[in-house]
Amino acid sequence: MPREERQQALDVYEAVASRRAVRGFTDEPVPAEVLRRVLSAAARAPSSGNMQPWQIYVLTGAPLAELKKRAAERVAAGDPGDQREYQMYPSGLTFPYRDRRLAAAEKRYAALGVPREDRRARDEAVAANWDCFGAPVALFCYISRGMGLPQWADTGIYLQTVMLLLRAEGLHSCPQMAWSVYRKSVADVVSPPDGLILFCGMSIGFADTTTSYVRSDRASLAETVTFLNG
Ligand SMILES: Cc1cc2nc3c(=O)[nH]c(=O)nc-3n(C[C@H](O)[C@H](O)[C@H](O)COP(=O)(O)O)c2cc1C
Repeated sequence: MPREERQQALDVYEAVASRRAVRGFTDEPVPAEVLRRVLSAAARAPSSGNMQPWQIYVLTGAPLAELKKRAAERVAAGDPGDQREYQMYPSGLTFPYRDRRLAAAEKRYAALGVPREDRRARDEAVAANWDCFGAPVALFCYISRGMGLPQWADTGIYLQTVMLLLRAEGLHSCPQMAWSVYRKSVADVVSPPDGLILFCGMSIGFADTTTSYVRSDRASLAETVTFLNG
């Protein structure tokens, strides 16, 4: 599709509204030029001091198959993962964040038909992360160890820009902190230079529309935004 048509086909509101964490992809390959176009455009994302602190690796084909194989072996062995380099969630979460997190998990497992007490089925759902939910493309976002909180925020802005541009190409994604659990396997495959921390992975591809999901909730505007009008 020419660029002009793509732009007409999906405005920014539609891109934002239609983006969701897709956890089931078809194996349809994503053309390399589409990935290049998306990542070239995403480079326009803003960052503090224009430092662009992200370091991105994109895996398809044999390298991705190798990573999935290594991760699957670790999952099968019950490997609890590598020592974490950052805490995924703060300990001692309180209202409303703890409640939102629990509600999101409940909703997700309900959509999969997995009962709360079925630990094994839940573990299997989590393990799907390390198969990239069947996606043919995985992106890994690293950041220099010396960077501070604002630069970590920069990477988030960048990643959302990537995810919205993927929507403009008819593609879907799932950002995945879960890859930090098996970060050494990622490093074994991508060989990043010293001094980088893996923030997250991102599965990319065409959504498998047969995978059941329930649209995630959001807090009301009044809960998260305060307007001070003059
Ligand atoms: C930085 C980041 C890391 C995430 N890590 C994971 C992950 O490891 N596995 C997963 O299934 N979803 C992951 N998600 C997806 C969130 O669970 C999802 O965005 C949230 O529940 C809202 O749902 P939605 O994106 O479908 O609207 C992550 C999202 C973000 C932004």
